[in-house]
Amino acid sequence: MAITTALDEKVQSLRERYILPHNVEEIERMQNQHEWVKGCADGLIKAPLDMTRKDLRVLDAATADGYWIQDAKSIMPAGTEFVGFDIAPDLFPPTQTLGPKVTLSVQNLIEPFSPAWKNAFDLVHERFVISLFKEDEIAQVLHNLLSCVKPGGWVQFVEPDFGTCVSRPKDKTSAFQMIHQLTGHVMADNMASTKLAGRLEDAGWVNIGVSVRDMMAGNAHPDPALGERGRKNMLAILNYFQSVTSPETFGLSEKEWLTLPERFSQDMDQHETAIRHYIVWAQKPVV
Ligand SMILES: C[S@@+](CC[C@H](N)C(=O)[O-])C[C@H]1O[C@@H](n2cnc3c(N)ncnc32)[C@H](O)[C@@H]1O
Repeated sequence: MAITTALDEKVQSLRERYILPHNVEEIERMQNQHEWVKGCADGLIKAPLDMTRKDLRVLDAATADGYWIQDAKSIMPAGTEFVGFDIAPDLFPPTQTLGPKVTLSVQNLIEPFSPAWKNAFDLVHERFVISLFKEDEIAQVLHNLLSCVKPGGWVQFVEPDFGTCVSRPKDKTSAFQMIHQLTGHVMADNMASTKLAGRLEDAGWVNIGVSVRDMMAGNAHPDPALGERGRKNMLAILNYFQSVTSPETFGLSEKEWLTLPERFSQDMDQHETAIRHYIVWAQKPVV
């Protein structure tokens, strides 16, 4: 994929020397997920940003290793400046590998942001993090992110809806559907994505757009490579959620719990298994 070429091997090996093994695994998972979601969504940016401008500023929230930024660089006009932040700086690649016009910094989504970020970005992008926050925290997260957008600028969220079953046939994909229960138990709100557009409307944002994509994981995907990426990602996600929960919580026997990954995988082999994702964008009104 284009991003692999962009992040040349030297950068990759530098990264691997600087980061801890558990981070290497998580970074690989997130990069695979990035390619799956990008492929299923037909691209990275849906907000109708004016791409003819040469002075754009983009903020990527919860950027992890900055992979989205490195890929977005290839489609944004030359001269675009990128800022990324995360609470986990151990995921950041070494500064010297970021390239010009990219900076990463440590910032918690629910703590006050730097005044320098107020009304400072043409696009604020956020992906795969909102479900971690409780209702009152989401209000703070949104307040923080929206405050960073310039009047007339755009915000874009890309978030899964882990609560809605879109796999088929419904009665034959029960192992895969365990992901809805697991995420429902662990995440603060596994359907937070479904409420984003309403929240933006309530905040007075305009030109709100929503694209709902059921992203297939496994053999049913028309593009086998993307289906494989989806399968790998969903198995990694299942593995994580099983590691922080137990069979009793879901009324499963020890055997059912231990065989879940295999049955989950079989569902992805034999049926149409998918996770719904919301891509939501909106424009800050010019007052
Ligand atoms: C699933 S990863 C998504 C990474 C990236 N946005 C992507 O789409 O690949 C979630 C990221 O959110 C970060 N994160 C979690 N809680 C956060 C918080 N309160 N403030 C900032 N970042 C946070 C994690 O460190 C992690 O890098």
